Amino acid sequence: MLKNVTIFRALFNAGTLHRLKTGKINKSFSITQPKTYISTSKYSNKIISFYDTALLSKFAKKPIKNITSSHLLSFGVKPITENKLLEYTRFCQTELPVRLAKRVVAFQNLPFIVGTNPHIFEVYRLYYEGFERLRMSKPVNTLEEQKKYSDLLLQIIQSLSQVIPSVAQGMLEASRYMKKETTKKFLDDLIWSRIGLRVIGEHQVSLSKQYDEQIQGIAQSANKKSVKNAINSFNEMDWNGSINTNLKIAKLLEQSCLFVQNMCELHYGTSHCLSKNKSITPQFIIDGDLETEFSYIPSHIEYMSLEILKNAFRASAEYAIKSQGSSSSQNNLYNLGFSDHTSCESSIEPIKLTITKGHGTVCIRIRDHGGGINAETSNSIFDYSYSTYHKKDDDNEGTLSLLSNLAVNNHGGGPIAGLGFGLPMTKLYAEYFGGSLDLFSIPAYGCDIFLKLPCIDKSLGDIQI
Ligand SMILES: Nc1ncnc2c1ncn2[C@@H]1O[C@H](COP(=O)(O)OP(=O)(O)O)[C@@H](O)[C@H]1O
Ligand SMILES: [Mg+2]
Repeated sequence: MLKNVTIFRALFNAGTLHRLKTGKINKSFSITQPKTYISTSKYSNKIISFYDTALLSKFAKKPIKNITSSHLLSFGVKPITENKLLEYTRFCQTELPVRLAKRVVAFQNLPFIVGTNPHIFEVYRLYYEGFERLRMSKPVNTLEEQKKYSDLLLQIIQSLSQVIPSVAQGMLEASRYMKKETTKKFLDDLIWSRIGLRVIGEHQVSLSKQYDEQIQGIAQSANKKSVKNAINSFNEMDWNGSINTNLKIAKLLEQSCLFVQNMCELHYGTSHCLSKNKSITPQFIIDGDLETEFSYIPSHIEYMSLEILKNAFRASAEYAIKSQGSSSSQNNLYNLGFSDHTSCESSIEPIKLTITKGHGTVCIRIRDHGGGINAETSNSIFDYSYSTYHKKDDDNEGTLSLLSNLAVNNHGGGPIAGLGFGLPMTKLYAEYFGGSLDLFSIPAYGCDIFLKLPCIDKSLGDIQI
């Protein structure tokens, strides 16, 4: 048995891509086609050879060199110097291939049959490609070399930015072949390391861009005085690499709410009570310390707020539909075909976001009246792939609902629900810099979600990235 596993593993490491290309794979379980990734790289058709695998494990065995948050911030202090930019770029050059190699090996160590799932394999290939391309770059010595590396890094960040729906789909399809705890460990590690990789990589790309802007600003200044002005205005800039040092949280939350409101409107449409022309989409209120500004990575808050808000808007809209009283409206909860005799008397409570700022921490409470979470569900909501969205698809076990599948292929912000990755991933994002995510539910009433985030500045202490 063990021998068979070893042989399988060797085959997987050496020639899975080849067998996938020639169609000789065992399709003994339900799979869907992966979405197409456009890759212009010469690595997309590369067969992974034994030599590559040996090289890969050499990198994967190297220890991770964490960078502390204060060290990360020190590279972006204005004005950015050439030395600092080159030093940080060389750190990325040595560190990123090691981290990518560890992820590639984690994919290789999945059970053989899970690795042959097309979605999982596609993500594995993208990680492998990222590793190959980054490890081959020569240590940068000049600004020009740094710029080329930065462009390459951006391409790789972009190629890996849309992999989560594929991972979710693949893991769901292959769930029967892995224990729940093993899947959780694999996904926690993948997502945690992905956050770190992106923080480090995006910081380089942003620093490189800010350095260019700094130089251009000085070059365009006609005299000594305007050079000084250019430097001063640059020093006052709100960015330290990828970190916005004066992030206006109320503004960002408002944009997230408007985005999800639109999504909700598109998804749930308008109630059939045309005389009242009543929309099923909830309104929102933002209150508290509206002037709060703090230092954080905007894309992280955007991701977390979108996931929490999608849940809150969905719960509120569906609870409103349910509360409209008609038994047929209950049956049609998912296909949203309301019967003509729905009462439309219930009003939808707005979703309320409250912002507070304490000592080095910002807290956002998101309150909805979407009926809360019942006791039997509440233990599972932070599990990967757990979603009440595709509950009606029992006859199609192991695959996502049609709507979710469509949304998986849609790159704009992910589906409104259905992957079951929103809460577990948001929790990891919140905890990455020492924050937290807590959810309190009053069944048959609503939910309060508390998102606590520390300021990413000197006061943070040394968080390891
Ligand atoms: N605000 C909320 N109100 C009611 N239920 C919620 C709320 N937030 C999350 N849930 C429940 O938790 C489940 C998991 O949420 P999530 O991880 O975001 O996955 P998904 O949204 O894809 O279902 C949801 O399917 C839903 O049942
Ligand atoms: Mg969700």
